[in-house]
Amino acid sequence: MDGDCSYKDFRDCLRSLEKVNRWLLGYRPTLTWLERLPRGLREPMHIVDLGSGGGDLLRQIAGWARRRGIAVQLTGIDLNPYAARAAAESTPKELGITWVTADARAYRPEKPMDIVVSSLLAHHLEDEEIVALLRRMEATVQLGWFINDLERAEWSCRTFGLVPWHPIVRHDGLVSFRRAFRKEDWVRLLSAADVPREAVTVERWRPGRLCVGRWK
Ligand SMILES: C[S@@+](CC[C@H](N)C(=O)[O-])C[C@H]1O[C@@H](n2cnc3c(N)ncnc32)[C@H](O)[C@@H]1O
Repeated sequence: MDGDCSYKDFRDCLRSLEKVNRWLLGYRPTLTWLERLPRGLREPMHIVDLGSGGGDLLRQIAGWARRRGIAVQLTGIDLNPYAARAAAESTPKELGITWVTADARAYRPEKPMDIVVSSLLAHHLEDEEIVALLRRMEATVQLGWFINDLERAEWSCRTFGLVPWHPIVRHDGLVSFRRAFRKEDWVRLLSAADVPREAVTVERWRPGRLCVGRWK
């Protein structure tokens, strides 16, 4: 997905990834973390998804906010212009989600960000880029941020390889599992970014996710 491909291939990969997220319970860690959001805060709350892909996580968050009666403004950021197009095609207009083509490493929002989330983006970044992103989120995000990514484990790589995914998703998935994280990676990256360790949770979520969360 990081290489060149047609719009159709990219969109099909994102649809296949949505199935991965759905079948392997990928939204659950982020939605559970959002449940810890203190009530009675200023609304609408601006929630930004970095590396939003086909937009499925923000659609889930829109549903979560509606069920909880929380007013939200949702923005998806993705480097690949095909992502904004694919996300807009798959998202009902009435959800009012804004899709922006931008680099998460350099994104400067027009409006303050209350919450930043990401799903399966971090393993696309180099260590120093993750450290810079952590620093920037610490400096700019008002309420909290949550990184939902893969845990590096031999069994998850082998299990993923058994399912007949879209060929690009299959190839990228296997590469991604090798570039995924262990808990000690996050301890090192958080320390390099001067994020107070006691303020952060690093949690394993079965199957295959390792998530880093921070409420301020
Ligand atoms: C593996 S996909 C994950 C998509 C979606 N978040 C999900 O969970 O299915 C990674 C996405 O991150 C995007 N991406 C990669 N590097 C990025 C960057 N530096 N800034 C913004 N988006 C980026 C890719 O274009 C792709 O859509």
